[in-house]
Formats: sequence, C-alpha cells, structure tokens
Amino acid sequence: MPGRKVYLVLLAALVTSGAALPQSAIRYDPATRVWQLSAGEMTYEIGVNDQNGLQTMYWGPRLEGPSTPATPKAYPEAASFDPSVSATPLEYAGWGGGIPTQPALKISFPDGNRSLLLDYLDSKQTDGPNGNQLEITLRDRLAEVYVHLFYKVYAPGILARWSQIENRTKGVITVEQAASATLNLPPSTSYELSSLSGRWGAEWQLHTVPLVPGHSVLESRRGSTSHQSNPWLAIGRTGETTETAGPVWFAELGWSGSWQIDVEQTFSHRVKITGGYNNFDFSYPLGPGESLKTPIFYAGYTSKGHGEASRILHRFQQQQILPGAPHPKPRPIIYNSWEATGFNVNEAGQLALAEKAASLGVERMVIDDGWFGQRVTDHAGLGDWYVNQTKFPHGLKPVIDRVHQLGMDFGIWVEPEMINPDSDLYRKHPEWAMNFPGRPRTEARNQLVLNLARDDVKQYILSFLDKLVSENDIAFLKWDYNRNWSEPGWDAVPLPEQKEIYVRYINNLCEILAELRKRHPKLEIESCSGGGGRVDLGILRYTDEVWPSDNTDALDRLSIQDGFSHAYTLGVMVAWVTDVPNFLDRRIIPLQFRFTVAMTGALGIGSDVTKWTADESALATNLIAFYKTIRSTVQQGALYRLIAPETSEQTALEYVAEDGHQAVLFAFLHSQHYGEPFQTLRAQGLEPAALYRVKPLDPLKAPGLPQEMTGSELMGPGISLHLIGDYDSTAIVFEKVEHK
Ligand code: DGJ
Repeated sequence: MPGRKVYLVLLAALVTSGAALPQSAIRYDPATRVWQLSAGEMTYEIGVNDQNGLQTMYWGPRLEGPSTPATPKAYPEAASFDPSVSATPLEYAGWGGGIPTQPALKISFPDGNRSLLLDYLDSKQTDGPNGNQLEITLRDRLAEVYVHLFYKVYAPGILARWSQIENRTKGVITVEQAASATLNLPPSTSYELSSLSGRWGAEWQLHTVPLVPGHSVLESRRGSTSHQSNPWLAIGRTGETTETAGPVWFAELGWSGSWQIDVEQTFSHRVKITGGYNNFDFSYPLGPGESLKTPIFYAGYTSKGHGEASRILHRFQQQQILPGAPHPKPRPIIYNSWEATGFNVNEAGQLALAEKAASLGVERMVIDDGWFGQRVTDHAGLGDWYVNQTKFPHGLKPVIDRVHQLGMDFGIWVEPEMINPDSDLYRKHPEWAMNFPGRPRTEARNQLVLNLARDDVKQYILSFLDKLVSENDIAFLKWDYNRNWSEPGWDAVPLPEQKEIYVRYINNLCEILAELRKRHPKLEIESCSGGGGRVDLGILRYTDEVWPSDNTDALDRLSIQDGFSHAYTLGVMVAWVTDVPNFLDRRIIPLQFRFTVAMTGALGIGSDVTKWTADESALATNLIAFYKTIRSTVQQGALYRLIAPETSEQTALEYVAEDGHQAVLFAFLHSQHYGEPFQTLRAQGLEPAALYRVKPLDPLKAPGLPQEMTGSELMGPGISLHLIGDYDSTAIVFEKVEHK
C-alpha cells in the first residue's frame, strides 16, 4: 500500500533524527485519507469518507500511531427520519442533504436555493515554529462556493480551528449562519457540561449539568462577549471526571461580539459542539470573489480532570495569546481611584491618593472615570475626550509628572465606543450612534453605543486615543464598555449589508487595538466591561489584563475568581483590595483577607488609602512587598485549585512556578463552625524528591511546621494550618532548595 509506506517514512524520519516526537504534529496517511493532529496529550483525527465528506474520526488521548479502524466511512441512514448526514460526525456540515441537526454553515443563493453540500476538495499543510497548520478545502457539489477549514495545533495541547467561506460564483450569496467549527465527541450517555454564566456583579458562576438529547445553547446576542455567558465550556463524564482526574473535552471561542456555542446530543448520543458567530439576526452577503472569515474556536482534551484542563488553557494563553507571548509582562500593582472617588476626580485628590499609594509599594496609578468633558455624573461627557478644566486646571501633566517622580507609571480610564446624548460629539454626529432610524433609541446608563462598523467612527476613536497617548505619558489604558447593544441599525450602507455590523464592528475594534499598540509599543491595555463582560480569547490578543467583576466583596470574589480560573489564567485577572463595608453588600471583611484574595490574581488597590490607619498601612506595605516576591509564580505558574469555594466554608489555591523553584499556597476560612480545624492541605504539582524551604506569611497560623519539607511530605501527609473564626486567611511559600 503506497500511502501506508509514506506514513511510515514520515514516522521513521522523526525517529531516526533522534528527536523525541514533537509536542504538536500533523500527520497524513494518503492511503486512508486520515489526518492525525496531536498536541500535548490530545489527538484529533479527521478523514475523507467514502462519500467524499470530511468527518471526525477521533478526539481523545494522544495516539502515537493511527487509530483503528482508520478508514473513514459515512454512517448509514439510521431511519428514514435520520439520514446519513446527521448520523455521520461531519467536521463542517452545510445545511443541505436533509440534515436535521445543527449545521456549521447555511447559505442562501440569489435564486432562493438554500441547499449546500460540502465535499472534500483538497488540502495543504504548513509547518512552522509556532505550530503546524492544515488547510482543508471543501466545495459545494454544484456551486462555486468554497469553505476553507483551518487547523492549527499548539504544544500545550490546543487545537485551533476556523473557517473561511469563499464565494466564487457570479452572484451574491448570503451567509445566514456561520460557525468556526464543529467538534464531535465520542458517543456517550454520561456526559456533563460545565459552563460559566452570571450577570453584572456576579459573573463567572460555574454550572455543571448532565447532557441530555437536544441542544444546550451558550450564547451572547448582546454585541459583546457578555457577563451572562462566557464562550467557554468543558465536558466531562458523570461519576468519572473530577478536579484531578477523568476525561475533559474543552473549548473556548475567540470572539468579542455576539457568539454562539451549540452543544447538541443527537439521537444516537453523539455530542457535537458547533461554535462561531451567533445565528440570531445574522446575515452576511458575499459578492463574487468575497469571503468571510470566522472567529477561532480552540479545543483541547485531557484525561487529568478539570484542573489540568484549566492549566492547559492557562499555559496556552500565556504562550500564544497574550500580548508579549510567550513572555507576557508581569502585571504591575495598580492603584485605581474608582471606588474611592467615583466621578469626583480632581488634581488634588488624585495626587493625595498617588502619594499614599506609592508609599505602600504601588507601581501604577490609574485615574478612572470622570476626568474628561463635562463628566460629573454618568449623564454626560462620553465622546468628549478632552481634559475637564475644572477638575484638572493644569491638564494631566502635573499629575503624570508627580506620579513618575513617585516611581509609578500612569494609566487612565476610557470608554471609547460609547457616547452620551449630552456630549459635544453627539451634538455634532448624532448619526454615529447605533440606531434604527425613526425608532426610539434605548439608553443604558444614559449612553448609546457608537457604530464602530463605520470607518469614520473607527478613525475618530483611533485618532483621539492616539492623540491622548501621544500627548501624555500614558503607560496604560483601562478600556471600559458599559452597556450592550440595543438597536443594531446601520442605515448608511445598503440594506443587504446592514447586518454586517455584527462582524465589522468587532473587526474594527480589534484593528484599533492592534494599531494603537503598534504606534505605542509600550502601551498596556485592560479590557473591562462593567466588570467581566468582555473577556475572551479574541480581546486577550490585544489586552494585557482584564477586570473580572465590579463585585469587589472578597468573599464573593473567591467564587468569581474560581469560575474565572476555569477558563482564563489568573495572571490577567485584576483584583483590587477595596474598602469596607463593601459598596455592594455592606459586608465587612478584615484587610488581610481582602489582600490575600486579591493576591491570588494581579493585585491592585481600590480603597481610599488616604484614610488607612498606620496599622492598616503597615499591613498593606508588608503584604504588597510579599506579593512582589511571589508575583511571577501567581501570575505565570501552574494553578492547582485545592479546595473550591463552593464546596465548603474553605478555599485553598496553590501555584507552582514554571521552573518549579517556588510554590505558593493560599488558604481561606470563610466561616468556622463548631470550632472545627481547617482541613489538612495537601500540595500538588511539586517534585516528590525535592526539598522545599517552608516560609509561612504568618508563622502563628502555621504552628509546628518544619522549616524544610520534601515535596512528597507536602503532597502526602500535607500541612495543618491554624485558621479560626470568620474571614481568616494566610499564605505559605515553598522555595525549592535541592533534591534529596
Ligand atoms: C465600570 C467599571 O467596571 C468600573 O471599574 C469603573 O471603571 C466604572 N465603569 C466607571 O464608570
């Protein structure tokens, strides 16, 4: 069999070169027409079947040879109600051939025909230092409509998939539904789906439910990623998958606009995950020669439980997604004035906060909302990005200069995509606000959304930001976005193109961010959307950090941050210490607990530090200095969720540095009952034979701990901590000294 020989030759070349198998690889067997894509501990196999359709062969633990039997075959019709196209796990199904399950693509032709039958045409493979890429082209059986499917594998164990739909017909076709990819799982009746949902102030709630036949749709129709649902999911097996063991198939979409992930369990208990643009209100015309690219859908697999699934995602984000990857810059400790001053920002007040923040060890001073236009409340000013002369009579320069003298850099809040009707910009350009002409405009927080799909709006936003950053020594922008879309009209373009707004708005947003970073290479940006409404793998390519929630109550934060950590690295998650009683729930939590909770992400301060007592200031200074010694481990290390906050009145997290030289463990007692001692903590991810110096943050809370312990002692018998009462917390550092 000539094809089989080629396959063996490729393998032999890898073996005889003396190199270990690459961490990511794409191999093709021409005899069976099967591609095997391997990354980390995962293999994904696809093949061209006897009907010339492209189908999934396998998605699971890594294979080092071809799976058996490796010859792809379309599945037969299951009943007259379930044709072959729905029974066969197709990689990217067009709506046609009687498919009753979720298609990846639906197209309408100018003559009213809406049937699309995608057959395999050809393929192209490129290998590069950053991963290996495969392009498979499908073509409609009758019309010149092509779909290019892209596959890229990354060492941490991630497969990236996206598609490009190309019109080579002579007419205009309309894309009515376009997914990036369909991912097919092996058939099973015992899957459970984990997802993240919430609302403003309560984002990142983790839910796990059994999968039953039918559709589970995760989505945002809001024009942005949303607080309500995040484009991440994980599928485990009921009774088998835990935090530390069992299979997990996971996926995450890189798109900051309206998105959809449809998880469908079919009649034959096959589960298909189809992710991409949201179908709702979607329509994208393609003229002859035009094409539409979809967002990237990322997928992974592990047999080591939800903890390892998160670590794979975290590693991938650090190595491939974030600005500066594979070595994103550590997050500085910021001070932000929002909770302390609200809109009442002015030169004297901000300088007083800056002086105090610097004395505590803060590294970046950020002025939040209220510094521009006629911004006194949220009723006015958005769109007028000039300095408010009453609040800052000498402009921003004296504040920035002083912040620099204090040894910090300077950042500022902006909300570029929004406009208040009470603004000079709106009076000049009312047509820039997104709206259906002649219909009422729905305001939220007294503001409207600018139509960023328009090129003039895009140019305006880019130029005011460029000017702001060029004229002032600004190291950081906190980019906020405080409402969803309501009337997504765009009457400046012909009717058939108006719904392109869903795609063009987000593409323009990304282009502005990319261009701004290009013009100002040192500029760092935070993605904030009234909390965690815009966190996804699309925006994270352009933003160094994100604000996960406006809820800064330290107890709620434990759950919020835990949910966040399932999908995203805590290295990008900004967490402030704020004042008590907390603004949201009036809860009073001690300063050390508030600090240690914030120290499990990118630490920041949002309190009115000018009011801190000498004792509070001394504690803060110590804790900030301590955080600096563990920052890189927390932000870039491997995270182990030892006790999840939802499961008891206790939480524990551990981070292990990439090179293993340090680990840090945080323990939180929410509330003690019946004098019960804090449960024994067993570390994870350490080297069993290595010796670690044990350095407790509070020696009195770690009584009797030896100064040195082996990895196996820390992971086996573990350690006991003395935490008591309500809201007690501590941290312990393990520094590797030597191998025993
Ligand atoms: C919402 C953000 O999440 C807050 O941190 C703050 O920046 C306000 N917007 C300002 O309007």
